[in-house]
Amino acid sequence: MPDFTDIGVLDYATLRQILDDANARKRLRDGLPRGAPDADRPLAGRILAMIFEKPSTRTRVSFDVAMRQLGGQTIEMSGSTMQLDRGETVADTARVLSRYVDAIMIRTPRHEVLDELAAGADVPVINGLTDRSHPCQVMGDIMTFEEHRGPVQGAKIAWIGDGNNMAATWIQASAKFGFHLDLACPSELSPDADILSWAQAQGASIQIVGSAADAAAGADCVVTDVWLSMSDETPTSAAATTTRQELLRPFQVNSEIMSLAQSQALFMHCLPAHRGQEVTGDVIDGPNSVVWAEAENRLHVQKGILNWCMI
Ligand code: CP
Ligand code: NVA
Repeated sequence: MPDFTDIGVLDYATLRQILDDANARKRLRDGLPRGAPDADRPLAGRILAMIFEKPSTRTRVSFDVAMRQLGGQTIEMSGSTMQLDRGETVADTARVLSRYVDAIMIRTPRHEVLDELAAGADVPVINGLTDRSHPCQVMGDIMTFEEHRGPVQGAKIAWIGDGNNMAATWIQASAKFGFHLDLACPSELSPDADILSWAQAQGASIQIVGSAADAAAGADCVVTDVWLSMSDETPTSAAATTTRQELLRPFQVNSEIMSLAQSQALFMHCLPAHRGQEVTGDVIDGPNSVVWAEAENRLHVQKGILNWCMI
């Protein structure tokens, strides 16, 4: 069965097909009440299991609503409400869930758990965020960029901040979608070296630059994310958090940084955001910010992903 585990393992035609489906479905819903199903309800009779081992607002609600609008249903679980936290293996859990449901979406702090689940399941498995990547989000981000600025191919995207799971996913996307990516991260918080080497071996146009200003210069889109990701939260000390914040402070996206980008440059953030840390309020709430469109497009992109996996 097709799994949606990472942008890097899918071919461009598949990624484009998912985006085309998402865009078409978004257009067809113009004027419909939010609760109304899509006209064709392609997933009628299908069930998606959603496992959350970490908190979520957007991923939880957008997958649930996407399934309902496509005619299907969801079951939501967490490690602690399943037998996973009492020692049942991921592989056994995968085999059992495959007897009940049509697909599984999981948010887990360890990417290895996602891979184990995908290996053991007979139904499609979707990555709802791991410590390594967040492919559903970046698909929504590419959709949002193209909606506002046209084809992403050849554009210049600036990643500024922590070299975290979102940075790694933008790196994978750069290799697949053919946009230039400049990343400015503290050297102590550099993006995943294996993913970076993989992308460079694919011929991706990616540079690690020394400062937020260097990344932002001439960019068509500036992207950032929280300074402390969910997988970094434990175990940590107050001192470690302070050090992290000190390292990241020069990588804040503020109006001075945005002024170096193209005048129409978009600002993106997957949310949740911390105004005053990775981004200032005037930028995230300003005219170039498309963060609410990004959040909405999660719904449309989940539909493209679910349809591709299950039909
Ligand atoms: N951007 C995102 O994945 O948000 P949630 O953590 O709320 O799902
Ligand atoms: N990098 C963040 C993204 C949240 C959607 C995290 O992993 O917590």
